[in-house]
Amino acid sequence: MSSLKDRSVVITGAAMGLGLATAKVCAEKGANLTLVDFNETALEAAKEEVLKATPGARVLTIIADVSKEEAVKNYVDAALKEYSRIDGFYNNAGIEGRQAPVTEYDLAVFEKVIDINLYGVYFGLRYIIPVMQKQQYGRIVNAASVGGIRGVMNQMPYVASKHAVSGMTKNAALEYGRDGILTNAIAPGAILTPMVAEAFKQINPADPKAAEADYAKANPTKRLGLPEEVGKLVAFLLSDECSYINGQTIAIDGGQSNSYGNV
Ligand SMILES: NC(=O)c1ccc[n+]([C@@H]2O[C@H](COP(=O)([O-])OP(=O)(O)OC[C@H]3O[C@@H](n4cnc5c(N)ncnc54)[C@H](O)[C@@H]3O)[C@@H](O)[C@H]2O)c1
Repeated sequence: MSSLKDRSVVITGAAMGLGLATAKVCAEKGANLTLVDFNETALEAAKEEVLKATPGARVLTIIADVSKEEAVKNYVDAALKEYSRIDGFYNNAGIEGRQAPVTEYDLAVFEKVIDINLYGVYFGLRYIIPVMQKQQYGRIVNAASVGGIRGVMNQMPYVASKHAVSGMTKNAALEYGRDGILTNAIAPGAILTPMVAEAFKQINPADPKAAEADYAKANPTKRLGLPEEVGKLVAFLLSDECSYINGQTIAIDGGQSNSYGNV
């Protein structure tokens, strides 16, 4: 039997990138999905993409801004109304902000990054953990980043928010492991998604492809990661095949975060 058969899985930031790639893997493994995003048009297109890949999959879409507490309550209620339980939660929605050194970083963007990446993840935990406690079962995957275990040039708020995600992951793991809830985070390196394409445009506006090539060169595998590679890891962590990993921030970066100097 497939490891996610009839499991109810909620994914935020599901309209594109890592959220969509994970939705596709989870649907293929038999999960019933609640896809959450604040980009309505892209979310509907994402639903079509999931259904095209896995005809007959159950897919509920909810428009919500994860940085708003009421909206988070609503998506949790909607998922429960549809499926009566929530087994897996990919707390994924996040933004990068902009590329700038700390003294030039605008406060408004700093606050936005923290609102979405830190409070958005916190609100998700706040409202989904009680559901999982009642079930005495749950699997949570929070979106950290290599920026949650290392510094990244010109991205202080992003790095602050992702270190916070790694910390919240450790705490949730300690506090709710006794309830059958396993909480982990993933720390992707550069994976080819719309977010990373935008970052390459900011790093080298004249030649984003050159920025991409530089990143690939610095990686031990000499390439960037693919969204479906992250999707497979997350689907495993959301399944009951993941049974004794708790509180970890797992790097998926081709080994780059272990390096010191050139590779
Ligand atoms: N792609 C990478 O290389 C990479 C690396 C490390 C960490 N991450 C993290 O993984 C997550 C997904 O990244 P991605 O590359 O797929 O990004 P993306 O920009 O390609 O997709 C993010 C999705 O989240 C949605 N979103 C953003 N803010 C939201 C909000 N407030 N409420 C609801 N939806 C919102 C967007 O509409 C979009 O559909 C993020 O948390 C990101 O920080 C990505």
